[in-house]
Amino acid sequence: MTDADPVDDVVATIARSATEIRQGLVGRRGKADAENPSGETQAEADVWADELLADRLSSIDGVAQYASEERSDIVDCEDDRITVAVDPLDGSSNLKSNNTMGTVFGIYDEPLPAPGSALVASGWILYGPITTMAYARDGTVTKYELTGGERTVVEEDVTLPEDPLVYGFGGRVPDWPDDFREYVREIESNPDHKLRYGGAMIGDVNQVLTYGGIFAYPALEDSPRGKLRLQFEGNPIAYLIEAAGGRSSDGRQSILDVDPTDVHDRVPLHVGNADLIDRLEDALE
Ligand code: F6P
Repeated sequence: MTDADPVDDVVATIARSATEIRQGLVGRRGKADAENPSGETQAEADVWADELLADRLSSIDGVAQYASEERSDIVDCEDDRITVAVDPLDGSSNLKSNNTMGTVFGIYDEPLPAPGSALVASGWILYGPITTMAYARDGTVTKYELTGGERTVVEEDVTLPEDPLVYGFGGRVPDWPDDFREYVREIESNPDHKLRYGGAMIGDVNQVLTYGGIFAYPALEDSPRGKLRLQFEGNPIAYLIEAAGGRSSDGRQSILDVDPTDVHDRVPLHVGNADLIDRLEDALE
């Protein structure tokens, strides 16, 4: 064991690996002949990025566990200080059309599955026209640009703009519960709001962080826990958006207060400006 901060080491490793992951997408746009633990067909790139991150993160001093949306079992490591949960390639169905995707990570100080209150840091990489990272720790959010293994701060103390501009909601409209559909009508009818939906959560959430607004992948009629995963997506996103002055909700409470039962649990996810999430919770009551 060393005295180095394992959280810093994990974040530095993910940031350094991002350029490589981006380059490695070329030639890996096909499907792998396998499903992830949530029953979704994996892309070759999902499997490859998971293996790359598992190798690198599980060998860092201080890391007790590595878990990923792309593998059933948690990897137990030699140390006992922090646990790392990763969605190696969020939105990988966008590979085929060459649209935005990301990598999401949460760093917890408890064994997984852990509640959001055990997070000590979280963030995401966005593979957009340029590669960026949004990172939250100790209640503050920082944005970076990543090139050739280097990271450059582009904005410190990032907060959601006060006036919400963009909205995006996942799932098929006919599958939305009536109360959620009513709420969406209200959001859409405001002339100050505009639709932004790209099919990769991290791209859509990053727009909310940039412009203000709301993103949700709600509970659906036939899937009351929605689609997104609590450990790998819900908690890390909620932690960062709350650190940026926004709110998160599973429809009733902060996502960070949801008790996990399994590492692959799903959660209805709603994040954005606090007043929009307050109104959402009123609408779903
Ligand atoms: O698996 C997660 C994900 O790819 C998210 O990135 C995205 O928001 C969502 O699924 C898209 O789902 P759908 O295809 O149902 O719109």
